[in-house]
Amino acid sequence: MKVERWTGRVLEGPLEDVYVYPAPVRLWHWVTMLCIFTLAATGYLIGAPPPAIGGEAVHSFYFGWIRTIHFSAAMILIVFFLVRIYWAFVGPSHSRQIFMPPLWSAAFWRGIGGDLKDYAFIGDGQTRWVGHNPLALLAMFGMFVLGLVFIIVTGLGLYAQGYGWGSGWMNAFGWVTVLFGTPQAVRTAHHLAMWYMLLFVLVHMYMASRQDIMSRGTIISSMFNGIRMWKGEPRA
Ligand code: HEM
Ligand code: HEM
Repeated sequence: MKVERWTGRVLEGPLEDVYVYPAPVRLWHWVTMLCIFTLAATGYLIGAPPPAIGGEAVHSFYFGWIRTIHFSAAMILIVFFLVRIYWAFVGPSHSRQIFMPPLWSAAFWRGIGGDLKDYAFIGDGQTRWVGHNPLALLAMFGMFVLGLVFIIVTGLGLYAQGYGWGSGWMNAFGWVTVLFGTPQAVRTAHHLAMWYMLLFVLVHMYMASRQDIMSRGTIISSMFNGIRMWKGEPRA
């Protein structure tokens, strides 16, 4: 099977199954998904807190649990992301894709045009991609990877604020508050980043389901078993 160099577009058959997402990528994907859903729910409640429960405050740890769950999911998210970055160096080539979209390649931009047409139901929908299609890749880099780095940095900045100036956390991440100017600016940026990330998640889930039905390769099952299989005959 002949594949285009930078984009992973299938040029010629005979079609062969490709083991495209190794176990560490799959495990990371699903753990990250659970973390982000947990972080968005608890983060939303931190930003729009529910009314205090009646009685002595000392008997309730309600809001404390919301914050504890947020911080625990955040730490899991960060550790898995660091392992995922490590895997980008040591794993096979598709493991690097989301960190390095081939913005220099004309074929990549042509692929974006083709994807836009396909998603608008005016393309032929016949192109096969071994890895992510170019439009998905652009969103995975621009909205997910950059968005995640931003949300982690501002999150750690906020977390450090809880310990106060002079603490080890503040020595490590106090620069975030200095950079944004005020503690509230970090909080607002962190909050807005959540909506940016959720926009990606919403579109991503729709696209993955749509492509699973409409595209010429397997999509959702590939994120479970790692293998890209093909539907239909190779193009002439
Ligand atoms: C997808 C990931 C995340 C989402 C969607 C998210 C969302 C949010 C939201 C919406 C808030 C409320 C902001 C406000 O007050 O308006 C918040 C607060 C906070 N987040 Fe995150 N967050 C994420 C990741 C992280 C990470 C990685 C950390 C790092 C430790 C973190 C630490 C914090 C802290 C310390 C607060 C303030 C808690 C408080 O003052 O009670 N978050 N988050
Ligand atoms: C918080 C939710 C989610 C986030 C942040 C997320 C993020 C990502 C990222 C970053 C990738 C690229 C993986 C890599 O190359 O390392 C990816 C791929 C993928 N995701 Fe998700 N995902 C989420 C939820 C879902 C859900 C619910 C589904 C199932 C419908 C799904 C299906 C897929 C599939 C099928 C791929 C591979 C697409 C392809 O082969 O081109 N994701 N996702």
